[in-house]
Amino acid sequence: MNLSEAQSEMKQLLSRVSPSELPKLLDWIRTSDELDDLQVDNRKVMLRSIADHLRVRLPLDAMLPSETAALHKMQQRCRPTVHVDSFLYDDEQVDSLCEEGTMSRTYCLTCGSFKTAPLDFISHSFSVSELQFLFQNVLPDLSGKILVDVGSRLGAVLYGGYVYSSACQLIGLELSEEFVQLQNDILHKYRLSDRVQVLHADVCTQDVLLHSADVLVMNNVFEYFMEPSEQVRAWRFIMQNFKKRGSLLVTVPSLQESLSALQVTPQPGWVEELPVDYDVYLGRDTDPDALRQIHLYRVI
Ligand SMILES: C[S@@+](CC[C@H](N)C(=O)[O-])C[C@H]1O[C@@H](n2cnc3c(N)ncnc32)[C@H](O)[C@@H]1O
Repeated sequence: MNLSEAQSEMKQLLSRVSPSELPKLLDWIRTSDELDDLQVDNRKVMLRSIADHLRVRLPLDAMLPSETAALHKMQQRCRPTVHVDSFLYDDEQVDSLCEEGTMSRTYCLTCGSFKTAPLDFISHSFSVSELQFLFQNVLPDLSGKILVDVGSRLGAVLYGGYVYSSACQLIGLELSEEFVQLQNDILHKYRLSDRVQVLHADVCTQDVLLHSADVLVMNNVFEYFMEPSEQVRAWRFIMQNFKKRGSLLVTVPSLQESLSALQVTPQPGWVEELPVDYDVYLGRDTDPDALRQIHLYRVI
């Protein structure tokens, strides 16, 4: 049943409900967890299973001891910030970790008092609902297409692309050898290697791959992991080499925001922004503001 058929059946059903019960039913539709469960399918189950597997292999903050520069940048933010990886921990899991005292959503303003303020959370991975949104609502049908995830980290985009898209090749580029190893273990364990591959490489060495890519995903790749001068160099390299007409670029945050922070002007006539429909409900733990950070561009 497609959307308009479902809408008309729904209207017919609602028109038969007794008027005094209708407000209760509408409230149940808006708030009940029972309906969220309808959105859980095998694809989500598989992504959650991968996340379970990765969670036990990583520390709670899912950062490597070698990521000193990224940790330092987080400490320099004006508000206290912690890294909670959204692919590994959904809101419910964060809540239960907070309840058992392993994690906190707040910090103490005056040590020892109850005067607390909310901590800022950042994630270096897309959550499962962001992945679903990316592949089902942002990108078109990817049959026969090559997708490259710049900075694939835990591999969330690659696994999401495997279950939610028909892309023929999903290629991750990652600077950290440890994360490459972790992703390769997952590809092996879940038998994903027929369509997924991870390269231990700096994107700035991958001109040939960028020439052939149909989709490039860049989820806040550089901000925490490279010095500003290196970020400028990497963006210039991408603008020079990701040029196949009609290919698609996904960025978080927008290109404008990423580039203006570095005082780089996008090459004139490189890409145009395409509209994205953000009005979609993907479950209670989906953060609408996070979805709005996802931007789509087409190479002109
Ligand atoms: C924010 S994470 C992106 C995670 C992943 N793409 C996702 O959306 O779930 C950025 C990752 O990019 C990697 N990275 C940073 N600069 C890179 C570069 N020049 N080439 C390849 N990987 C890079 C970092 O090591 C880090 O793991």
